[in-house]
Amino acid sequence: MENAEFVLDVPVVRTFVAEAQAAIASTRAPAEACDAIRPAFAALLADPDWLPAGYRAPAPESGMGGGIGQWLLYRSGDASLCLFSLVVPPDAETPIHDHLAWGLVGLYQGAQEEEIYARRNGTLELVERRGVERGDFYVLIPPDDDIHRVRTTSAETSVSIHLLTNDTGCVWRHSFDVESGEARPFRSGYVNVACADPTVEIRTAMPEDFESVYELLCARSAAAFGSSELQRENLALEWQLANTDRVVATKSGEVVGYAELSGAHDLVLAARDDEVNDALLNAVERRARERGFDTLVAMVVPEDVPLHALVSRAGFAQHSEVLCTPELAAHAPAGTPLAPAGMITVAGLHDPVEVMFVGTAADRTRKIS
Ligand SMILES: [Fe+2]
Repeated sequence: MENAEFVLDVPVVRTFVAEAQAAIASTRAPAEACDAIRPAFAALLADPDWLPAGYRAPAPESGMGGGIGQWLLYRSGDASLCLFSLVVPPDAETPIHDHLAWGLVGLYQGAQEEEIYARRNGTLELVERRGVERGDFYVLIPPDDDIHRVRTTSAETSVSIHLLTNDTGCVWRHSFDVESGEARPFRSGYVNVACADPTVEIRTAMPEDFESVYELLCARSAAAFGSSELQRENLALEWQLANTDRVVATKSGEVVGYAELSGAHDLVLAARDDEVNDALLNAVERRARERGFDTLVAMVVPEDVPLHALVSRAGFAQHSEVLCTPELAAHAPAGTPLAPAGMITVAGLHDPVEVMFVGTAADRTRKIS
């Protein structure tokens, strides 16, 4: 498989992965594939020599907590198969979690107690508690038995081997609160390899995004000007205006950017990083073309570093300089043009003396036709 990662590149792992892939390719259902893999998996668990000590070591800073380490041994280039060791120190236990993939899980070292849960009417119900000894393994085919937690019961650290049909450490799955049954987004990560950044997704802003967007806009103002005077009520009123497109950028479900495009071609952008800003600008440009606009207009001050960098990178041309707030007119040099009413989106300009310099915004336009 192209871009496959044999992090632990030893013959035993290569041979086992090849056998597992051959079994998966020659069967039509997960249960059938797991049955075909059983003998090779049993042999892997029975062989005491192939897993180096480093892959049996606890990890103090892991995503699982409790020193629990998830060490990647192999993953396919298309994220459809992975092999990893899960190291749980004595008395430590994992959060209750799911896997969202089928495969085989077995114990290589030590002993564990496993609790299996089911979601019933929004709550978690403990359906089974069982001891797991060295060499024991089971087939996991979600949704059955997919929610569990394990605890080490031996004096030595336990090590379990997982063969699962996703990139388990890097996918967003769930951990669960035992009391409320509430599911939370959970990505365990691996101790020894990084996960690629989740992709940025753009969608229309929804009412439930309001607080996140408000925080993003305040954060952007604060970063540029040291404070924000954006009022929640004012933003809420703006959100009622028709003829404005509003989109949010999300990563793993979290709102990380916001953009709006008004009927006057005005663009507002707030994001935490360049990748998100670029994705938002692309989305807004697409929408602008659909609306028949031939320009986009952004009010940009140099102090808003991410936005200033974005418009420079994207080839916006500086069209004119405007003074940001009418209140500053008294302090402005003769002849300084004022921004048209309604174009002022820069918050936090409360100190006229400072703002004399900060507030000379570049009104940049960009031909998009
Ligand atoms: Fe697990």
